Amino acid sequence: MNLILLGPPGVGKGTQAKLLIDRFGIPQISTGDILRAAVKELTPMGIKAKGFMDSGALVPDEVVIGIVEERLAQPDCQKGFILDGFPRTVPQADALSQVLTGIGKKIDHVVSLSVDKDELLKRLTGRRACSKCGAGYHVDFAPSKVAGICDACGGELFQREDDKEETILNRLAVYEAQTSPLISYYQGAGLLRSVNGLGSVEGIQAEIVAILQGAQ
Ligand code: AP5
Repeated sequence: MNLILLGPPGVGKGTQAKLLIDRFGIPQISTGDILRAAVKELTPMGIKAKGFMDSGALVPDEVVIGIVEERLAQPDCQKGFILDGFPRTVPQADALSQVLTGIGKKIDHVVSLSVDKDELLKRLTGRRACSKCGAGYHVDFAPSKVAGICDACGGELFQREDDKEETILNRLAVYEAQTSPLISYYQGAGLLRSVNGLGSVEGIQAEIVAILQGAQ
């Protein structure tokens, strides 16, 4: 099963993708995670991407298309994959379609999550992640047992650079201008299913799973 999770920053794409990995045994491909790892490791790509990411802008299409093309060729994607944060522009979606055609694959489902802007702001300003194992938390909605410390490994929690309010507002504007056209793009292709992203993580997961299993 080849899936795209679409939606604005903070809507819950990463949270839902992580649950789908276990359920379907297919990997999550998060361009944001791949880019953040490259920034941390100071690779040439990371150095190039950092300025765009810190300001909330998109990294150039040719960089992310290259990342995804390389990742899709890896053996663990043979049974399927969950794209989280890609595509984000129409040229990225066109490139994805070409890459998949070239390897005899196609997208099966595009699930679009949505919540209102106030909720997105709350989710993003309160998000924390573990500096050691990467586990995700939220100061109000999914707090760790001890403030600032990861329940799973004891690592220190941190706030993402781009989760400061000013940058979030820019990311949301970039989403509206450059990514939201993908909703009609995939609607036109007959692939889009919309899910309300407001509610419990488990309830939203159940709705997505029902769609993927063809029960809705
Ligand atoms: P990326 O890392 O992809 O960020 P994003 O799309 O902005 O998405 P987020 O990770 O912020 O949100 P999410 O939807 O995954 O929400 P989450 O599950 O964490 O991209 C970062 C940057 O990299 C971009 O700005 C760009 O510069 C660059 N980039 C990446 N991909 C690119 C591309 N394709 N092209 C160009 N540039 C690219 O949830 C958020 C919070 O809410 C968490 O704390 C969570 O616990 C909480 N939460 C989740 N679900 C619920 C719920 N149901 N109820 C209450 N709280 C919830």
